[in-house]
Amino acid sequence: MSKRIYIADAIQAVNQKVLIQGFIDNLRDSKYMAFIVLKDITGKIQITIEKETHPELCETISQLTEDSVITILGTVASNDYVKLNGVEVIPESIQIESIADALPIVRKAIPATKKKKALERSSIDQRIDYRWIDLRTDENQLMFQIQTTMVNAMRQYLLDNNFIEIHTPKLIGAASESGADVFEVKYFDRNAYLAQSPQFYKQMAMASGLERIFEVGPVFRAEKSYTNRHTTEFTGFDLEFSYIVSYQDVMDLEANLLIYMLKKVEEKYGNQIKEIFGTEVIVPAFPFPTITLHDLYDELEKNYGYKVDESEKGDLTTEAEQLSYKWSMEKYGHEFLFVTGFDAQKRAFYHMRDENGVPLGYDLIWRGVEITTGAQREHRYDILKKQAAEKGLEEDVKFYLEFFKYGCPPHGGFGLGVDRLTMLLLNLGIKDAMYIFRGPNRLNP
Ligand code: 4AD
Ligand code: MG
Repeated sequence: MSKRIYIADAIQAVNQKVLIQGFIDNLRDSKYMAFIVLKDITGKIQITIEKETHPELCETISQLTEDSVITILGTVASNDYVKLNGVEVIPESIQIESIADALPIVRKAIPATKKKKALERSSIDQRIDYRWIDLRTDENQLMFQIQTTMVNAMRQYLLDNNFIEIHTPKLIGAASESGADVFEVKYFDRNAYLAQSPQFYKQMAMASGLERIFEVGPVFRAEKSYTNRHTTEFTGFDLEFSYIVSYQDVMDLEANLLIYMLKKVEEKYGNQIKEIFGTEVIVPAFPFPTITLHDLYDELEKNYGYKVDESEKGDLTTEAEQLSYKWSMEKYGHEFLFVTGFDAQKRAFYHMRDENGVPLGYDLIWRGVEITTGAQREHRYDILKKQAAEKGLEEDVKFYLEFFKYGCPPHGGFGLGVDRLTMLLLNLGIKDAMYIFRGPNRLNP
């Protein structure tokens, strides 16, 4: 028995005998001929069976269904009439590995034919019920290849810049970010919480003298949000680094990280992203434009007549977030926008504040959606303790405050949502962009 090869390699192996395996992507079984399109993670190839010359295969072929998994041993032949790469495999054996029942979802709309009515594509929620079947499509498989390149590029950039990768606990004794939106879980005879971010432990690494760290890991938010960009569990790309002079250092690092990443993604997948997802990967220029929240609201009102109540201006409204994209494109031709100058009431207690009490932090907006919150952190024990107390968190974060009592360098960092990056890169909603979405009504599969 020969060794299995990828279909992409089989396509190149004209006149050779190959062993290939995969899912049946398409099946046409007629009186004299049978055509199978076989798909693996690298591509698709046509299998052609002339029934008269291969009567021994007919019994097997009659059992096949679309999405069944088979093993084919056959010879690759060049044939200009074959639309798919101009090659076909003439099999000598077909082995059934697994038969698929009729599929419970429609992954792609199917237009009407003379014999059959048109089939509408199943909704994203129906498709998530059978996510593993939905993930077999070319688009979805490509999405995870792109995401792999994306996260790998960011990891590489940080490794090249002396960052250390850490893995912090997700079961914790106190709510991280704030008391709100936290999942409580039973922990033997008491309660624990699921980490809302690695924030406290990233900062502990600064007090540990690790200087530059990052983590890619799960983040939990008990938010009852039903939008196309919120989920209750997502993947966070978080980093923290010491001896910064200001949060501008954090913003610069993030901009350079994203430029590096988008360049890698563009080089490898730019054409396919355009072709399959219909959207362009644009490698942004450094520096990214920056505006204060106050000025942004002024600009949005001046340019688009967008008005919000004074009381709402301490934070970005969803509409302002979306409109800021239009503004940033018109003003700077830039897809990214840093927004600074949030109200301390709206920001986490651990953000350092300037002499006027304004947090030294930012949000980064890409294509009208927040992808990051970042800041210089307050590393001075007394001030930090006071800021925690103002938000009523002094008791909850007692263990965390200890990190700053025995020496801690000035530092800053940010949290970047991986799922949001994927979704914005490919112009999808978050449910489509996640391996398996988690929401208030979704714990399965
Ligand atoms: O803005 P967030 O809440 O900030 C933090 O977690 C801070 N500890 C970060 C810091 O270092 N200051 O979350 C960071 C990012 C968001 O900008 C967004 O991209 C993503 O995480 N995110 C979500 N993604 C999907 N669904 C949700 N419910 C999200 N909440 C935040
Ligand atoms: Mg945020």
